[in-house]
Amino acid sequence: SQNIYILAIESSCDDTAAAVLKNDTLLSNIVATQEVHRKYGGVVPELASRAHQQNIVPVIHQAIDEANIDKKDISAIAFTKGPGLMGSLLVGTSFAKSLAMGLSVPLIEVNHMQAHILAHFIAEENFSKPGFPFLALTISGGHTQIVKVSNYFEMEVIGQTIDDAVGEAFDKSAKILGLPYPGGPLIDKYAKTGNHLAFKFTKPKVAGLDFSFSGLKTAVLYFIQKQVRENPNFIEENRDDICASIQYTIVEILMDKLKKAVKQTGIKEIAIGGGVSANSGIRKALYDAEAKYGWKTYVPKFEYTTDNAAMIGIVGYYKYLNNDFCDLSVTAQARYEI
Ligand code: KG4
Ligand code: ZN
Repeated sequence: SQNIYILAIESSCDDTAAAVLKNDTLLSNIVATQEVHRKYGGVVPELASRAHQQNIVPVIHQAIDEANIDKKDISAIAFTKGPGLMGSLLVGTSFAKSLAMGLSVPLIEVNHMQAHILAHFIAEENFSKPGFPFLALTISGGHTQIVKVSNYFEMEVIGQTIDDAVGEAFDKSAKILGLPYPGGPLIDKYAKTGNHLAFKFTKPKVAGLDFSFSGLKTAVLYFIQKQVRENPNFIEENRDDICASIQYTIVEILMDKLKKAVKQTGIKEIAIGGGVSANSGIRKALYDAEAKYGWKTYVPKFEYTTDNAAMIGIVGYYKYLNNDFCDLSVTAQARYEI
């Protein structure tokens, strides 16, 4: 049968990304990360849209060049319809629509949260794919969800954050400690040499499989303020222990709910995704759970966990096989349920 070439575009937050897939195999995967937000300690939506506007053409050119294909080989354009920042989504959406029109190829809209999950299905040596049904834990700076995945497009959110995302818990805690944005990786780094039982932060009480992280951030803030009043060098002297204790609490919160989800659904296949899945604490906890509870866990290649267009492309590929195309009148959607 004929090969399918998908050009995928992702612009939902602060990364402008484009990728080309030949069937389920990645040919190129380009991400332009916007440095402009660093000094603000978080993503500034207005600046993100402008940066997407500047980056999108070079990023798409590079993706096509590196894939070594001809534009006329492209079978369809896939793009992120949502969820995300409206201004950011609009850049990718408008561009995808124009491109589909210009090249006279079909257009495929993709849900960013489904894409984080289906990233596990990009063909990759040495990585096995989860079997249906599985539980997906999507954890990043913008998302915290547990999704029951029965099939490629049969998914149900069974738990999610009611306030901050888990990545925000890392980044906001890091900010309180005076660490640069995004502080998640730094907390992870310092936690490695710290004692996770040095300080105790209470875990939130949230019903069902939902999460809450805003209380932890406040607890960290009050704790640090109090300690620094007594000892101005408290942070410097205890950095590793503080980081280890914060990370331990966050990992416990995630694992508590995951265990509950496994119990509730009877599903022991766990696939994680999102930038926070790089965290060594969560990776170790999942690894331990394999031995302890007989779970099977799946962690994709790092470049497929953070925001990227390869994951949009794999959804595009499966939708293409289903003839699931959209009209050129499609619009971006900031809130878009799975
Ligand atoms: O998926 P991602 O690149 O972007 C979105 O937010 O969608 O995730 C970025 C988030 C940030 O909050 C960052 O601090 C966090 O992932 N992160 C980590 C680690 N690496 C990235 N958090 C904890 N430990 C890490 N090793
Ligand atoms: Zn994302």
